[in-house]
Amino acid sequence: MKNILVTGGAGYIGSHVTRLLAKKGFNPIVYDNLSGGFRDFVSGFEFIEGDIGDFDKLVHVLSHYSIQCVMNFASFIAVGESVQYPLKYYENNVAKTLTLFEAMIKANVKRFIFSSSAAVYGNPEVMPIPEESTMKPESPYGKTKYFIEEVLHDLSVSDSFRAISLRYFNAAGADESGQIGESHVPETHLIPLVIRAVLDPDYTVTIFGTDYNTPDGTCIRDYIHVNDLGEAHILALERLLESGSSDVFNLGNGKGFSVKEVIDSVRRVTGKEFSVKEGQRRPGDPAILVASSSKAMTRLHWQPVYTDIDAIVATAWKWESQRKRKGY
Ligand SMILES: NC(=O)c1ccc[n+]([C@@H]2O[C@H](COP(=O)([O-])OP(=O)(O)OC[C@H]3O[C@@H](n4cnc5c(N)ncnc54)[C@H](O)[C@@H]3O)[C@@H](O)[C@H]2O)c1
Repeated sequence: MKNILVTGGAGYIGSHVTRLLAKKGFNPIVYDNLSGGFRDFVSGFEFIEGDIGDFDKLVHVLSHYSIQCVMNFASFIAVGESVQYPLKYYENNVAKTLTLFEAMIKANVKRFIFSSSAAVYGNPEVMPIPEESTMKPESPYGKTKYFIEEVLHDLSVSDSFRAISLRYFNAAGADESGQIGESHVPETHLIPLVIRAVLDPDYTVTIFGTDYNTPDGTCIRDYIHVNDLGEAHILALERLLESGSSDVFNLGNGKGFSVKEVIDSVRRVTGKEFSVKEGQRRPGDPAILVASSSKAMTRLHWQPVYTDIDAIVATAWKWESQRKRKGY
């Protein structure tokens, strides 16, 4: 069985990929400092509490477990916070990731899968966005992803290090089991915030801007189900272990849904009313961000299953309606 180190594996996306790795016959070893993740998300799996900035610990773990590939989900993820505290983001998402690369090279582990983001594109002109669009990240968060992609490119040229960067659009939904799901502090993602309004009568969800150049005036985003993301990771891993060439792929649904459409979907799925208010646009929010995922579909033979927004929201609702009881 191939041992895969899943750094940041106790978080939202990492915990889903960890389950899928095991289902597909790999042996995931989760490495996480629990700054944003939960030990219980990966109960039943090998778990090491550690920081990706800890060179000695990483070299030990990588060698001890004969790791074949590292999948790195470990990073801070809040765009707004990154604007306020850029150094926090450059330290965790760039400096510590470089330490992870140094440890990998020291331990002779040279296969890497990277959680990149649509944030590398900034405000692109071509929609849906292909991978070759100009990368002009607007936030420090987006820049951290861009910098690491550049480092991975240089490493691939200089060394036998090979990496696949996966640029996720808006990860959404939860495992069908309802046992794991999205839990960020602070939560900034739309679907969990709308569901919060369903569950908490004191909370009002805000629509930031209703005068965009879109059919209903609200921003359109590409929601991709977390288990569809997981499948793409497995395909990328298999490709990396077989052919070993570095590459970059967008991962999105290919369909955009507006903020109002997501809110309507939550109403349909939950059958409940909740309070919504309209606010001003947030600076830097592009009107539309939708991926072209045709490269992943053609080259990785990846096909998202959850293309309907209600199907995505239904899994999120199942998770959110149970999680309070579990204390996440
Ligand atoms: N959620 C999305 O919509 C989305 C979109 C695009 C890209 N991404 C990227 O996907 C990855 C996972 O996102 P997520 O939503 O699961 O976030 P998350 O916060 O749920 O998971 C991140 C995990 O990394 C861990 N971590 C953070 N810094 C660490 C460090 N220095 N050492 C060890 N562990 C550390 C946290 O404890 C957490 O468990 C991130 O890299 C994020 O930038 C997410």
